[in-house]
Amino acid sequence: MNILILGGGGREHALAWAALQNPKCDKLIVAPGNAGIAQIAECASIDIEDGGTVAEFAAENAIELVIIGPEAPLAAGVADRLREAGLSVFGPSAAAARLEASKSFTKEICDACHAPTAAYGHFTEADAAKAYIRAGTAPVVVKADGLAAGKGVIIAETLEEACAAVDDMFGGAFGGAGAEVVIEEFMTGEEASFFVLVDGEDCLPIGTAQDHKRVGDGDTGPNTGGMGAYSPAPIMTDTVTQKALDDIVRPCMAEMVRRGTPYQGVLYVGLMIENGQPRLVEYNARFGDPECQVLMLRLGAQALDLIHACAEGRLSEARVNWADDHAMTVVMAAKGYPDAYEKGTVIKGLEAISDDSMTVMFHAGTTAKDGAVTATGGRVLNATARGATLQEARDRAYAMVDAIDWPEGFCRRDIGWRAL
Ligand code: AMP
Ligand code: GLY
Repeated sequence: MNILILGGGGREHALAWAALQNPKCDKLIVAPGNAGIAQIAECASIDIEDGGTVAEFAAENAIELVIIGPEAPLAAGVADRLREAGLSVFGPSAAAARLEASKSFTKEICDACHAPTAAYGHFTEADAAKAYIRAGTAPVVVKADGLAAGKGVIIAETLEEACAAVDDMFGGAFGGAGAEVVIEEFMTGEEASFFVLVDGEDCLPIGTAQDHKRVGDGDTGPNTGGMGAYSPAPIMTDTVTQKALDDIVRPCMAEMVRRGTPYQGVLYVGLMIENGQPRLVEYNARFGDPECQVLMLRLGAQALDLIHACAEGRLSEARVNWADDHAMTVVMAAKGYPDAYEKGTVIKGLEAISDDSMTVMFHAGTTAKDGAVTATGGRVLNATARGATLQEARDRAYAMVDAIDWPEGFCRRDIGWRAL
């Protein structure tokens, strides 16, 4: 099978790595890819948010399966365009990707099927939003409705702060994403991410993970795209997992089918769990990054069979072989991230790290330049390891981090602290 993966981060490096473990993968192209991906697959520089361009490229290269990594091409309708061209595609239509692209849409779906989530109000102008806030209590959560690269969520400690956030959003602080605003009840509990493959109504859970969103040790400092993750998430016991499937995921997916916009791809289910009860925080229409890295290392070659079955609507026949193992990924980022950081600094020590089925250094934001690997993104490397215990996975991941010579980079030293 000839495969095209869209994206160029650590998530896509992990997807490429897993695909290549499977003998069914004949040819693999990643667009745009990065320096790490270029060591294992062909990279192509095309506009991945333009469905026509991707369809043409796929035809020229006899591609049979397209795996879409990030949300932007999904929201832009690239999956729709590729399906029209007759390709097998892993990733939802633009209409189904609204579960990520519009927070009010997700709330509406939850309302329609009574899925447990935070109480909310949805507003298109500031005065009504502020009146709703003043009638409630703090803390309260203010969200830009649209895609805001993970930055459109403000947890306001006071009602004044919440009202200021509303003014910022309607004032254009998040561009078009803030033209509508959702105000939510603040939920307490422990968060976990749950990953489910969906092809219409069939749902197949493929794993759980927890990530660390804050930049600093002890979960302090500003929010990031994620500084590390581990799988499985201990809070996702069998009972909690079953409840999340029965009360949240399956009813929502049935509602999408009922509306004529079935979901097809991986559903990232962000949950808040308190006293054994899961409630939905958010859906994403893609794998998490860096959660994907730990899931792929654990699933290995079977990930491609599962993704392929999902893309072809054969999930009801698919089975996951669970290993009783643990994985952890530690993100190495450029100093300054998530604010301004230097680009183009040289990373040394990569060649000394062995890649095997236990440890892989996934690249997130790197470029090859004059024979050296340089950092081009905020999140740059993902030291990812597997073990019989989380402690073993952790020790292996940090040994990889410690082998890297990159003075301009940093990482958190406490990934997994809650579970260890
Ligand atoms: P989202 O982009 O919706 O996932 O929000 C980003 C983060 O904000 C989540 O991972 C949670 O940590 C937090 N968050 C979002 N909504 C709520 C809520 N209603 N209650 C508590 N925390 C929330
Ligand atoms: N790690 C969080 C995300 O991918 O949205």
